[in-house]
Amino acid sequence: MHHVRPVIATGLAVALTFAPLAGAHAASPAPVEAEHGMVVTTQRLATQAGVDVLKKGGNAIDAAVAVGYTLAVVWPEAGNIGGGGFMTIRTKDGKSTFIDFRERAPLASTKNMYLDAKGNPVKGASTDGYLAVGVPGSVAGFEYAREKYGSLPRKDLMEAAIRYAKDGYVLGQGDVASVKENADWLKRDPSTAKIFLQADGKPHAVGDTFKQPDLAASLAAISEKGPDAFYKGAIADAIVKASAAKGGILKKEDFEQYKVRELEPVKCNYRGYEIISSPPPSSGGVIICEILNVLEGYPLSYLGADSANTVHLMVEAMRYAYVDRNSSLGDPDFVKNPVPHLLDKNYAAEIRAKINPYKAGVSKELMPKGMGESKETTHYSIIDNDGNAVAVTYTLNGSYGAGVVAEGTGILLNNEMDDFTAKPGVPNLYGLVQGEANAIEPKKTPLSSMSPTVVTKDGKPFMVIGSPGGSRIITITLQAILNVIDHGLDIQEAVDAPRIHHQWLPDQIYTEPQALSPDTVKLLVEMGYKVDEGDPAWPVWGKAAGILVGGKDLATIKKGDGARYNGAMDSRVESGLAAGY
Ligand code: DON
Repeated sequence: MHHVRPVIATGLAVALTFAPLAGAHAASPAPVEAEHGMVVTTQRLATQAGVDVLKKGGNAIDAAVAVGYTLAVVWPEAGNIGGGGFMTIRTKDGKSTFIDFRERAPLASTKNMYLDAKGNPVKGASTDGYLAVGVPGSVAGFEYAREKYGSLPRKDLMEAAIRYAKDGYVLGQGDVASVKENADWLKRDPSTAKIFLQADGKPHAVGDTFKQPDLAASLAAISEKGPDAFYKGAIADAIVKASAAKGGILKKEDFEQYKVRELEPVKCNYRGYEIISSPPPSSGGVIICEILNVLEGYPLSYLGADSANTVHLMVEAMRYAYVDRNSSLGDPDFVKNPVPHLLDKNYAAEIRAKINPYKAGVSKELMPKGMGESKETTHYSIIDNDGNAVAVTYTLNGSYGAGVVAEGTGILLNNEMDDFTAKPGVPNLYGLVQGEANAIEPKKTPLSSMSPTVVTKDGKPFMVIGSPGGSRIITITLQAILNVIDHGLDIQEAVDAPRIHHQWLPDQIYTEPQALSPDTVKLLVEMGYKVDEGDPAWPVWGKAAGILVGGKDLATIKKGDGARYNGAMDSRVESGLAAGY
C-alpha cells in the first residue's frame, strides 16, 4: 500500500466526515412505497400475481413461485419452465439458503461436443436449436421451494399463470418490443414462430390479446400432477422426441434424473453489511464478494460515484475477480472451488497491493496457465410482511433461449449449454473466456453469473437485488449495492444509474451511454485504459430489480421516517413493475 495516491490516502482519513458525492446522473422517479410486502419483476402482471399471493396470506416464497410461473407466460423472453435458475432465500428467523434449479448437461453430452473435426467451435452449435438445450430445472425448483418453504397449495400459485396462458393477456408496449427485437430468432422454428408471431411473421400489436393454449395445458398438467407431469410424463416425451428429430441429445433419463440442489449461500461482510448471494455453480456471489472485499479498502464515497479514481479501482478489482471466475470456478459436484480463498479479506489485500494507483492493469499478464491466448434472463425481488426476503434469477440464457418449442408443449427451451467452456480460450455468447473447471461433462451444471442477492444489516433485511445481463450480472448487482451503500443513491436511482463493466477479457472498460463524462474518459485513457464509450445494448446492461428496507436511501433510513419497503424496477425495462400493499 505504499504507492497510495495522495487523494486516496487523504480520502481514507476524511471519508467518514464527508457526505457521499452524488453522481452526475439525472434523477429517477421515486421508488414505490409499501408497508406489508413488495414485489418487483420485469412484467406488470407477474408482479400483480405476486402481490395477490402475499395479500392472500402466502409468504415471499409462495409469491416467488407464483411469479416464476406467471413470468413463464407473460415474459417469455426469459421467464420459463424450460430453463433454470437460482433462488436466494432469507427467512424471518434470520436463516438463509439457496436453491439451485439450474440446467444440467444431458447424459450424452461430451467435452468437445461443440467442436468440429479440427477442434474449432462450430458456430451456433451451443446456442441454436436442440443441441444447445440443458435439462430444465424450473418446475422442480419451484415445487421444491414451495414444499419446503412455502405455505399455499400448488394450484393457488399456478392459477394466474394458467389463466394468462389460457385466456390470454393484453400486450403492452414492452411485451411487444421484446418479441419485435427477437422476431428473427423466433422465426427459425415453425413450432415457435406460430406461437409468438402472426401468420405473416410479424409480432402481435400493442393491445392484442395473446393466448398460449399449449402452454396452458402443460401448466395445468403440472398444477394437477406436480413436477412428474413435466419430468416423467408427456411433456418430457414430447421434448425428447423433438430433440431426437432435430439434432439434440436429450433423453428421457435426463428428465427423470433431474435433481434440485439446496446449497449454502455465499456470504461476506462489506462495510458492516452482510451480503448473501449465489454460491457455485454460480460465480455471482463469490465474485461480487471478491470485488467488494477489494473495494472495501478504498474510500469510494469520498472518491465519488463516477470519478476516474473510483472507476479505476472498480475496474481493477473486476479484472482480478473475473480471472478467478473464468479460470477456477465450476459445478461444485465436479470441481473443487477455491471459495474460502477467494472470499478471504487477506487475498483482497494482496490484490489491492498489486493495483497500481496511477495505471491500468494489463489483462494478458494475468492469463492463467492452460487458457490460451486466443441472453436473456430475468430477476425478481420479493419481501413479505414477516420480513422473509426472496431473490430469484432464472433464465433461458439468450432471449427466448434456443428458440425451440417441442410441438404441443408451448414450452420454450433454453440454450444454457453455451455457458460451459466449449473450448478453453474461446469466448462464449457473453465474451467470457473460460477454462477447464467449466468444461462440459454429463450431468454437470454450467457456470453461471446469476446473482440473486439479499443484503442484511444488524441481522435485519436491508436490500434485495439482482439482474439479468449475462457476464455483466455480477457488475450490475455490484454497482447497485455500491450506489446505495457508498454513494447514497435511493434504490430507484441505484438501479437506473448508467453502468460500467470490465470482465478481464476483452481488456477494455465497457460504458453505458452517459455513464462517464468525456473528461473522466480522458483521465482513464491517460491511465492506460481502452474505454468503449456508449456500448450499445448487447450484451445487455441488465434489468435490475431492487427493494430497500426502511427508507428509499441510507439518509432516510438513518432519519427513521422512511417507508418500510421501497421497490424499484429498472427503468431500462418498459414492461416491469414494482408494487406492494
Ligand atoms: O447464467 C448465466 O450467467 C447466464 N445464462 C445469464 C444470461 C443472461 O443474463 C441473459 N440476459 N441478459
